Amino acid sequence: MKQKLTIYPVNEFDGLRRAGRLAAETLDYITPFVKPGVSTGRLDQLLEEFMRDHGGIPATIGYHGYTKASCISPNHVICHGIPSENKILQTGDIINIDITVILDGWFGDTSRMYYVGKPSVKAKRLVETTYMTMMAGIEQCRPGNTTGDIGHAMQQVAAGENFSVVMDFCGHGIGRVFHGLPNILNYGVPGTGTKLVPGLVFTVEPMVNIGTHQTLILSDGWTAITKDRSLSAQFEHTLGITENGYEIFTLSPKGYTYPPYQD
Ligand code: MF3
Ligand code: CO
Ligand code: CO
Repeated sequence: MKQKLTIYPVNEFDGLRRAGRLAAETLDYITPFVKPGVSTGRLDQLLEEFMRDHGGIPATIGYHGYTKASCISPNHVICHGIPSENKILQTGDIINIDITVILDGWFGDTSRMYYVGKPSVKAKRLVETTYMTMMAGIEQCRPGNTTGDIGHAMQQVAAGENFSVVMDFCGHGIGRVFHGLPNILNYGVPGTGTKLVPGLVFTVEPMVNIGTHQTLILSDGWTAITKDRSLSAQFEHTLGITENGYEIFTLSPKGYTYPPYQD
């Protein structure tokens, strides 16, 4: 059976704008706290407090048994890193912070990379390439294009730097639900997949690795790492397809794109 896609009328995007903005503000807010010596558990507490203080609910708490308000994924962790008081950040680490807030029933899902102190030249190149990868995917978002166009554009950018895109995780439809159709793969064949139409709402969230694309899940059942322990990076936006293109709901109010972030 053909599965149904949810279309959210473009003139009703307001709830998505507000949820997306709160998610982005939460990532803005945490920026100065990301430094050597802080635990990822502490960052998670601060993120949860900020979301709740602004009327949001962390969507990850209780999601398939997950108990934290964020995913924090350092270095070779690809995604779904579980924040912990025992995980202390060290200078040279690169981390992804991924949060999803529910505001008035609407979901906003976004992630960014952060530098803990000064990154290596290679780590910096990975992080910057991953941002360019996400944006290349987003630039394909317009009516008439397909999800394959998005994936293809993303894989091209990563491959251009001899990096690999993760195939075991992907972007997803979102809106009144956390994870729905369509799947937005980080690779693809132009012109194939789901045709984009106004009102389609989804995330673009490429994970890019320096080495192999292959993944492993740790025994905690969540933490995804690169099989070869090479560095991995990710950025994520939630966006909607409009009549002429796209609208990103999770743009940073502070204008932050990729690190280092400064006011
Ligand atoms: N925010 C993640 C995503 O981009 C999902 C995290 S689910 C969790 O889809 F349970 F691991 F938190
Ligand atoms: Co997502
Ligand atoms: Co996310």
